[in-house]
Amino acid sequence: MKKMKKLKIPTRSIGVCLLVVFCLWPGLVLALDNAECLDCHGDEGLTRENGSGDNGSASLYVDADKFNHSVHHMNDILCVDCHADISALDYDNDLPHPRELAGVDCAACHEEAAAAFGDSVHGKIKSKGITMTCYACHDYHYVTHLAAASVAERENNFCAKCHNPYQSHEWLPKQAEHFAFVECTVCHAPGVQRHIHLKFFDLVTNTFYKGEEILKILGVGYDEFMPMVDTNKDGIIDKAEFEILELMLRQKNDHATFHAELVAEVEAAAHKVNRGVAEKNCEKCHAADSPYFNSVAIVLTKEDGSVDQHQVDRAVLESYSLRHFYIYAGTRVKLLDKIGIILIGGAVAGVLGHLTIRILTIRLRRARKNTKT
Ligand code: HEC
Ligand code: HEC
Ligand code: HEC
Ligand code: HEC
Ligand code: HEC
Ligand code: HEC
Ligand code: HEC
Repeated sequence: MKKMKKLKIPTRSIGVCLLVVFCLWPGLVLALDNAECLDCHGDEGLTRENGSGDNGSASLYVDADKFNHSVHHMNDILCVDCHADISALDYDNDLPHPRELAGVDCAACHEEAAAAFGDSVHGKIKSKGITMTCYACHDYHYVTHLAAASVAERENNFCAKCHNPYQSHEWLPKQAEHFAFVECTVCHAPGVQRHIHLKFFDLVTNTFYKGEEILKILGVGYDEFMPMVDTNKDGIIDKAEFEILELMLRQKNDHATFHAELVAEVEAAAHKVNRGVAEKNCEKCHAADSPYFNSVAIVLTKEDGSVDQHQVDRAVLESYSLRHFYIYAGTRVKLLDKIGIILIGGAVAGVLGHLTIRILTIRLRRARKNTKT
């Protein structure tokens, strides 16, 4: 012990010395501040000649406001943490840093995601001499948390940029419904965890409520939501509590309802999209005991793209189906019979209502119909 204490003293004094040196040498420390970079790169007019842009110039502008809302800035990642080959700015030169900078290595900080990506059909095209960058999907300066995104947003921001799912999946009936309710990676990344997200939905504007909007309607804050709903304080919203919440909602605002989506957990495994391994087995989802429906949560989105999740008892889904469609969908066999009918007959779609998750949108659909008549 004594030895350690003795060792600490010189280290600390070296630290103090370095600090003094840094303070007297602003060119080294302060130059690494974002503000210095933005002095030039915050100028919308800053372009590079001979760039790869349309007219031979490329914008070098970084929108400081948008950058400051990014998940990286909010986690104290600086410009030079990514542009790591800039160690100092030298204003004696026309250009204070090298003209050609090394490409940014996202994997330096996101090892797990990078490894999973390397093991995907997209990562493997490297062997064909094509490199798909991380920002082909993610963007770079303006990355936000992904959890709050709806299925449509997740698909449009990622997969749909390059793939049109309607050009394949001929074997899948009701394509539009699947693509609207089931995120691509739910089927395409077999190792990913799946969740049912119940989000508040506005029947008039046909959009999801932002967390703060629905909380305003309910008259509570983020921290007060669960204590208000979970009256028996067991940390799970059960069927009875859920029904009270629905009632409360109806009293406060008659066009607010729930909308259910089947989404993938935002985790590294979501990258492992590979050829020939996607889920094709209807029974995996279309069965009363489907493992895809084990995790159900009410989701309140936040401004920064993150979410508050509140666990909901799966029975909530089943209780509603019991009332309307569960008699048909209750057993796997009956369900698949129904699907069989649709595949052969084609036209009986209206009669088929088998999926537990669908039940939550019944009122939504009915209300839509009512507003039409
Ligand atoms: C005095 C103005 C100025 C400052 C300060 C400045 N840059 Fe630049 N930067 C430029 C100009 C001009 C270019 C375009 C150079 C060229 O002609 O290709 C550039 C180019 C770049 C590029 C593109 C390089 C490439 O290889 O394509 C990056 C990235 C960059 N700067 C990052 C930064 C970062 C990070 C900082 C802060 C540590 C910073 N810059 C500070 C003026 C500046
Ligand atoms: C999360 C990592 C990350 C952070 C943080 C970051 N950059 Fe970048 N930046 C990139 C990537 C990736 C590129 C694309 C090309 C490459 O790989 O260098 C890029 C490109 C650029 C370019 C070239 C023009 C363009 O938009 O493609 C400039 C200029 C630049 N960054 C400046 C900055 C400045 C200034 C900051 C801080 C305000 C900053 N960057 C913060 C990752 C980052
Ligand atoms: C083909 C599109 C695509 C590419 C390319 C891609 N990602 Fe992702 N990334 C995703 C999807 C999809 C998710 C999960 C979000 C969701 O389900 O909506 C994700 C999630 C993430 C997350 C959050 C989850 C976690 O692991 O913490 C990080 C970080 C991430 N990606 C980093 C990277 C990095 C680093 C690369 C490059 C090595 C990369 N991504 C390349 C599509 C992509
Ligand atoms: C210097 C370290 C560093 C680098 C380099 C870096 N990131 Fe990040 N990234 C972080 C940190 C820290 C977070 C926030 C903590 C978290 O959510 O994991 C983050 C979060 C993310 C997220 C959000 C995940 C979520 O919560 O939904 C994505 C996506 C992401 N980064 C992609 C990228 C991409 C793409 C690049 C390269 C252009 C990159 N990162 C480069 C440190 C870094
Ligand atoms: C930047 C464009 C791009 C994005 C974004 C993208 N992909 Fe791809 N994808 C490709 C390319 C290119 C290939 C072909 C790879 C090859 O030929 O080996 C591919 C291949 C595939 C394959 C295998 C196709 C086959 O022939 O069997 C699947 C499945 C796939 N992608 C699904 C997805 C999913 C799911 C997403 C969203 C998470 C996504 N892709 C996002 C470009 C993209
Ligand atoms: C219900 C599950 C499911 C959903 C949802 C789904 N896919 Fe697929 N997809 C499959 C299966 C199964 C295949 C057959 C080949 C395979 O296993 O990769 C396939 C094949 C593909 C292929 C390869 C097509 C070809 O030419 O062979 C691409 C690309 C693709 N899907 C992209 C997407 C995208 C993008 C989305 C989201 C908009 C999506 N998929 C949603 C199950 C699904
Ligand atoms: C990954 C899970 C998953 C897989 C695999 C899957 N489905 Fe679905 N399916 C869903 C979800 C979620 C919905 C949306 C339910 C709704 O409309 O609310 C849906 C909707 C449907 C609908 C329309 C329901 C209605 O009443 O409008 C039919 C029909 C259907 N699926 C048949 C199939 C068949 C046949 C297969 C196999 C070829 C299959 N599904 C595979 C999850 C899945």
